Amino acid sequence: MPRPHDWTSTPFTRLLGIDLPVVLGAFGGASSTALVAAVSNSGGLGSFGLYGMGADAIRATAGELRSATSRPFALNLWLPLGGGALHGAAHPLPEEFASYVAALEPFFAELSLAAPEAPERYLPSFEEQFAAVLEARPAALSLVYGVPSAEVIDACRAEGIVVIGTATTPDEARALNEAGVDAIVASGMEAAGHRVSFLKPPAESLIGTMALVPRVVDAVDVPVVAAGGIADGRGVAAALTLGAQAAQLGTAFLACDESAANAAHRAKLWSADAETTVITSAFSSRASRGIPNRMSAALDAPGARRAPFPVQGWLTGRIKAEAARQGNADLMSLWAGQGAPLIRHHRASDVIDAIVRDVGELLG
Ligand SMILES: Cc1cc2nc3c(=O)[nH]c(=O)nc-3n(C[C@H](O)[C@H](O)[C@H](O)COP(=O)(O)O)c2cc1C
Repeated sequence: MPRPHDWTSTPFTRLLGIDLPVVLGAFGGASSTALVAAVSNSGGLGSFGLYGMGADAIRATAGELRSATSRPFALNLWLPLGGGALHGAAHPLPEEFASYVAALEPFFAELSLAAPEAPERYLPSFEEQFAAVLEARPAALSLVYGVPSAEVIDACRAEGIVVIGTATTPDEARALNEAGVDAIVASGMEAAGHRVSFLKPPAESLIGTMALVPRVVDAVDVPVVAAGGIADGRGVAAALTLGAQAAQLGTAFLACDESAANAAHRAKLWSADAETTVITSAFSSRASRGIPNRMSAALDAPGARRAPFPVQGWLTGRIKAEAARQGNADLMSLWAGQGAPLIRHHRASDVIDAIVRDVGELLG
């Protein structure tokens, strides 16, 4: 018998061949194949964040994902905002690099870390990453920080890869729609992690999910995925009611046992400290939402010296790796969304089971 209100089937789920309109957001630098596979195997769309990964690592990850799930999954890349091999930024001169390291010296010293030498490169090029993604042929490629070129979209289409863009404003959604992407994530300002605005500065692009989703739905003619502050069935039902054809969750899955979040970060997500999140530029010199700590306070203070993107992220990444080893949550980024206090489940399949039960009751 046909179900009159079958919320599980939408144009987005049919486009991807998935059973549920639930997407695991990508976590650049913190994705795990176990979490992606858990969400895809539960009927949603798992996404793996490839930020910072070179071609070999991407190939290996895609192989691991294929062994862990036969269901569709997405890979995720950051576009080079502003263009250029260094993602829009100039390679710093040695004396500049030394001054950026000096600004972080107290944190290196606190962790008994030697100051790092400048690397040969801070990030792999988009071209190298994209070539590896094409070879991996995921069901979808999701992108942030811009509009993919016609070459990128055409190459994906030739391989049968669905292209998903990300918008933080209706104007960005229109630009993505005109370029010909297949679906658009509407990322409200509640979301964890980087504010991926590309037409205007993030501070001028802070629209909450409740207003952003219907505005984007009205502005485009492709499926919209709602993201930001959605952590349970109520949020998924609300997103679908606003016209989204899937909901993307980050924080609720990041807190699960299968995630690659380090233990100190994960403990913070489950603690009362997750009541407060801020948008900080401390860790990468790009606006990003997380739980404030001693390091974000110091580096957001007026006059604090920070390296440009992506140098700051590379430098604070060294500090984070050691802080994670030492269990020191004061010296690492603690990305979290405004829905963090809503998290209840430690396993991805439990997050999804609860969503299926609750959305079924609300919309069934
Ligand atoms: C640790 C972390 C890293 C993230 N990295 C990326 C990324 O590389 N690419 C991306 O598209 N989104 C990234 N995001 C955003 C998530 O994919 C997702 O859209 C967001 O967390 C949804 O909001 P919520 O956390 O309120 O559920 C990241 C989020 C977190 C928590």
